[in-house]
Amino acid sequence: PHISSERQSKAMARLDVTETFHRISFPGHLHTQESLSYATGFQFQDSDTLIVTYPKSGTTWMQEALTLVFNKGDSTLAHSMPNWARAPWLEQYYCPEVLRASRGPRIITTHLPYHLLAPALQGSKAKVIYVARNPKDVAVSYYHFHKMANFLPEPGSFKEFLSKFLSGTVHYGSWFDHVKGWTSQARNKLNFFYITYEEMWQDLRGSLERLSTFLQCPLVVEELNSVQQHCTFSAMKENSMVNYTLIPEEIMDHTKGQFMRKGKIGDWRNTFMEEQNRNFDEVFKAEMQDSQLRFVWESP
Ligand code: A3P
Repeated sequence: PHISSERQSKAMARLDVTETFHRISFPGHLHTQESLSYATGFQFQDSDTLIVTYPKSGTTWMQEALTLVFNKGDSTLAHSMPNWARAPWLEQYYCPEVLRASRGPRIITTHLPYHLLAPALQGSKAKVIYVARNPKDVAVSYYHFHKMANFLPEPGSFKEFLSKFLSGTVHYGSWFDHVKGWTSQARNKLNFFYITYEEMWQDLRGSLERLSTFLQCPLVVEELNSVQQHCTFSAMKENSMVNYTLIPEEIMDHTKGQFMRKGKIGDWRNTFMEEQNRNFDEVFKAEMQDSQLRFVWESP
């Protein structure tokens, strides 16, 4: 049916509204005060596995890896159910409905910073998996995602976007606060597994082995082979259950870019100007000076 341009622009206007919760902004298309409060007051079960990421850090990749590890390499579920239905985002409005319909151990995803989930996780034995990615690559990936996702604000130029990213005023808040909160405060208190996008990229098989050990879900060689094969960038790019092509054009404009964009490490070099890089390094150093964390993308 023909949609008048007036109706279309009204729908679009609703799409990129912002929901602010504890001084952090979220896409109003997916989050409400109620859904965010539901997340912060959530009752975790010990059998839950929680994937925690800052956006664009390898969330979908980890969702796929967990689905396949839990299914011993059988890709039926990975090829028949969208990622948001098998590993829903705790803070997004549809989560309660998805969890009500689910059976067996749950995989839950979140982009929330640690301080907002700490009370709910206190004393929990749920498995928590944190995936971090080189923030320069995160910034570039996030910028391109803003261009195609109509539920995110117009990013402007990369320079403008980068300055918002560094000041933590983008949706989901500051990358620095996110990674510091989850890695310095949470890891001692929780059943915690830390991995980087770069480690998964450089050694997918070894990463999956470590993951399956942590999940107490050992795999035989054939099962591991299958998990590995279905988790490659090329396989996931073709899988409509994870490449977001099921999302209608008004919400994600697939003519403006692809969710499975490049899947590379160090791609920031093709976007950052020298001065932007210098500035980034300065902010990084200042923000991370107290962090014990060493990242594999840093030179020794
Ligand atoms: P790029 O935009 O740099 O290509 P998230 O799932 O957290 O939103 O992260 C999306 C990023 O992860 C995108 O990065 C996407 O291409 C990348 N990605 C997804 N699956 C991947 C895979 N199997 N291997 C490598 N990168 C992957």
